[in-house]
This record gives sequence, structure tokens and C-alpha cells, in this order.
Amino acid sequence: MINETQIEDTLNEMFSNLEFTAEPARLYDPLRYMINIGGKRIRPRLCLLAYSLFKDSFTEEILQPATAIEVFHSFTLIHDDIMDKADMRRGEPTVAKKWDGNTAILSGDVMCIDSYRRIAKSPAAVLPQVLELFNTTAAQVCEGQQYDMDFENESEVSMENYMKMIGLKTAVLIGCSAKMGAMIAGADSRSCDLLYKFGYNLGLAFQIADDYLDTFGDQSVFGKTIGGDIVNNKKTWLLTRALEKSGEMEKSGVISATYGKNAIFNAMKMPVANEQDRTAKVNKVKEIFEAIGIDEDAKYEIIKLHATAMDCAGLIGLGKVRYEMLHRFADKLLGRNR
Ligand code: IPE
Ligand code: IPE
Ligand code: MG
Ligand code: MG
Ligand code: MG
Repeated sequence: MINETQIEDTLNEMFSNLEFTAEPARLYDPLRYMINIGGKRIRPRLCLLAYSLFKDSFTEEILQPATAIEVFHSFTLIHDDIMDKADMRRGEPTVAKKWDGNTAILSGDVMCIDSYRRIAKSPAAVLPQVLELFNTTAAQVCEGQQYDMDFENESEVSMENYMKMIGLKTAVLIGCSAKMGAMIAGADSRSCDLLYKFGYNLGLAFQIADDYLDTFGDQSVFGKTIGGDIVNNKKTWLLTRALEKSGEMEKSGVISATYGKNAIFNAMKMPVANEQDRTAKVNKVKEIFEAIGIDEDAKYEIIKLHATAMDCAGLIGLGKVRYEMLHRFADKLLGRNR
């Protein structure tokens, strides 16, 4: 049986030897840069893990598709950082910041193409299904990203629409990572679908944790500028829940107007033109979140989704050793501080 150390060794090897065409340098250097500055690599790790539940050793058949998922993910981050006006990624300047916006667009494009080239190296027997899954997922990520942008201009979104949005922008790719690993290993369709649900629920929890860290994280560990979501008026889990909860609390007289719904709307309208303004806005929103306990609520929501993910894992009927591997993966993923 493949163990976790072998998975880590394989991941390290996969990404230390990645080949990208050399010229023009301005097109390919950002690819090398994004891959070399690292990242947690949770998606290829999950893909290899799902594969290892059904196979006893890694062969080439899984290495390229697993790599493809990380390359695709990194491409989405390059474009996401343009869309989110972000300066920092993985503790380093974003591609758009280090080079420029046009470079980030085109390098992102070629990175997406590179991911397809690698997906195409899946075993012929499962290639049609793998491609269908990957295509569907990639389009869904774009749909989620569009909702994310649309929501910036809305004052409030329902929790249902927030969950739908993060399901698309984040959870489907994590579900896809798990399912693809199992598919390529030749697992039965029921197991593949349950692994998808495992990944999807973890993905929802992972995005809520990301939203939490964007406000409450430690920048030097998180590797992204803290408060970016607040500055952009992103409809994060924190804000969505805060608007729900502050209204309820105010109505029942539990909190004063200082932390009521209008206080949140006013904070969202605070100016963000310079560093000082941005800090004042982030601090104000944070103060309201803490006053009404949104930080604790987020942690609880993450635990609930983790449990749902583990229920899906349990239904596969893998036996204790393999179930525990999925459990350790989930624990590590949600214990994230970066
Ligand atoms: C960032 O993904 C985008 C989200 C879906 C929250 P990761 O947190 O996996 O980013 P890296 O790859 O580790 O940098
Ligand atoms: C990004 O969500 C999801 C995708 C890139 C598809 P975020 O915008 O929250 O990701 P970060 O925080 O920039 O990594
Ligand atoms: Mg974004
Ligand atoms: Mg972003
Ligand atoms: Mg984020």
C-alpha cells in the first residue's frame, strides 16, 4: 500500500522537475515562478491520495493528470489576483505585480493550456471521462469566479447564494481532484462519486477557512495581504453570516445599533483610497465581526462541513487504514493557517 510519505516524496519530485518551454521568457518565467514559490499543493496531494486508495504504486498514468490540476489551479490564481487586485501570493509578489497585468493574462492562458496537455496524458481507457470531468469543473470555476465578482457590487447575498458561489469557484476543483485520482485508478463509480462529495465538502470548508484567514490570519504565514476581502467588499462567509446575524440580534435586542446591520453597511462604504483608509475599514469590520462572534461561528461551520466530508468518506467502505488516511488529510487541510 502507498503511504503518506510516498505521496509527499512523489509530490516533491513532480514539482521539482517540471518542464516548461523556455522562450519567450516573459511568457514562461511566470509559470516557473508560480510553481517554484510553492503553495500547499492540496489538490494534487488529494488526487494522489484518492488514487492510492485503489492502487499499490504510482505509475506515470496518474502523475501528469495530478500535475495538471495544480497547474490549472495556479493559473486560476494568477487571473484571480488580477481580478482581486491582489499584490501578494504565496508570500511573494503576484505575477501581475512582479511583471504586469498583460503578462499575467497571457502567462495564465498558456498555463491553462499546459494543464490540458497534461490531462490529455491520462490513460486512454478513462480519458473521455477524465476530460469531461475536467472540462465541467473548469467551466464551473469560471462561473464561480463570475458570481464572486458580481457579488462585490451587491450589498448583501443570501447564505444559499454564497455557498453556491464557493461551491463553484473552489469546491468543485477539490472534488474533481479526488474523483479524478479514483477514476484513473479504475475505481467503481460509486466510490468516485463519494470521493467527489468528500472533496467538495472539504472544499466548502476550505474556502470558509480562507475567508476567515483573509481577515483573522497572520499575513507572514498566510502569504496574502490580510483584509483584501474587506477592502474589495467581497461577500465572504464572514460578511454573509454577519449581515444575517446582526439583523437577528438587533431585532431581539441582544446588540445595540453599534454592531447592527446598518453599522456593517456603513463600514462597507468606508473609503479605501490609501493605506490608512484601508486599515481603518478593515479594523472597523473586524471589530463588528468579533463583537457578534462571527469568527467563532466560522470555526463551527468548518467543523460541520468536515464532519459531512468524513461521512462521505465513511460510506465508501474502504476499511480503517484508508479511511484514516482521508481523515488525516481532512484534518490537515482544515487546520490550515496558510
Ligand atoms: C487558494 O488556494 C484559493 C482558494 C481556493 C482559497 P490554496 O489555498 O490552495 O492556494 P495555494 O495553492 O496553497 O497557494
Ligand atoms: C479564489 O478565491 C478561488 C479561485 C482562484 C478560483 P479567493 O479569491 O478567495 O482566493 P485567494 O484568497 O485570492 O487565494
Ligand atoms: Mg477571488
Ligand atoms: Mg483572490
Ligand atoms: Mg481568499
